[in-house]
Amino acid sequence: MRPHIEPFCDRDVDFKKMGLRGFGMGMRYKMLSFDPETGGCSMTVQFDGGYKQVPGFSWSELEMIVVEGELQVGDRTVRKGHYFFIPAGYAMPAISTSQGAIVLMMYNTGEPSLIESTTHHPQAQVAYYHDVDAMMDIPWDPGGVTRPTVATGCLIKLLNFNLESQAITFLYCMTPGFYQDNISYHDCAEESYHLWGTSWMMQFGDIPSGGYFWRPAYINHGAFASEFGCIALGRTDSKLYNHFHYNPWSTPVENADRSMARLAVRDPLLYNWTVDFDHNHPHSLKDFEKTMPRRGPDWEGEEPHKSDGHHHDHWHRDHHHHVHAHGDEYNELLEAVHTHHHHDHDHDHDHDH
Ligand SMILES: [Fe+2]
Repeated sequence: MRPHIEPFCDRDVDFKKMGLRGFGMGMRYKMLSFDPETGGCSMTVQFDGGYKQVPGFSWSELEMIVVEGELQVGDRTVRKGHYFFIPAGYAMPAISTSQGAIVLMMYNTGEPSLIESTTHHPQAQVAYYHDVDAMMDIPWDPGGVTRPTVATGCLIKLLNFNLESQAITFLYCMTPGFYQDNISYHDCAEESYHLWGTSWMMQFGDIPSGGYFWRPAYINHGAFASEFGCIALGRTDSKLYNHFHYNPWSTPVENADRSMARLAVRDPLLYNWTVDFDHNHPHSLKDFEKTMPRRGPDWEGEEPHKSDGHHHDHWHRDHHHHVHAHGDEYNELLEAVHTHHHHDHDHDHDHDH
């Protein structure tokens, strides 16, 4: 699971030399976010003028968008705004740039790799490959990829939809003068890179060009505004649902509880199954479907940088585990599964354990 990175702007750090085997000379990177379990990461990458890369595939699913400059991909020249969805094992043609280019590269399921090959790996899901000039060849839609939706003036170009997880990748544009006064959180992680322009968020301030966040589920964000507009690449790791509210003090644990309460109304049988500890332990999705790992088993998300080293911190505030009325085994399950059933709703989570 990737930690919460926000606020962050890639202009504030220097490029580092990429020394990974397989890649060409003259590739430099800025690490934006990194998953220590899978090696998955998002990077701003600079290909120096004259960079050449052999044909080949990655072991990880890869998304790329050209931020500046031109790339030669096989016999095509692609420009700023060109987006690629490249399944794991899909062999790309040789890539080069004569004048240099900056590219956002998102290795979603594993560490960056390039295996020289002119043929796809036999298990590659080649039909999922696609690329498009996202600036020129897709019109802006008036938001609304999910209900309830963002305020008027946030436009969307949908770039990729994962049929298994419902994860989406999209460009979004806040038009000049955009504002949205409520607070959002989601049941998915959310990633954004500002290609151009500045937006503002109540919790994290201005996000300028090069601004980036990787935001785990259930973290409050918003209100939003953009004075002069912005264009950004957005991504989720699973289904995007907008939980809107107006309480800036709710914690991620409380937000997850509220989401669970909504699940209990919407899908009561699924909810009951989820919280019933007599059933077999929860299976991995991998037991049923071949799918990329999106969340580790520890999905509730320890965040080392927010812990003071003494407390078992769940995102932002301490909480107490409820040990009453249950046997040890049950409590172990509670620890393991963490459905966060708080029997008291006094909003006071500041007790020591
Ligand atoms: Fe969001």
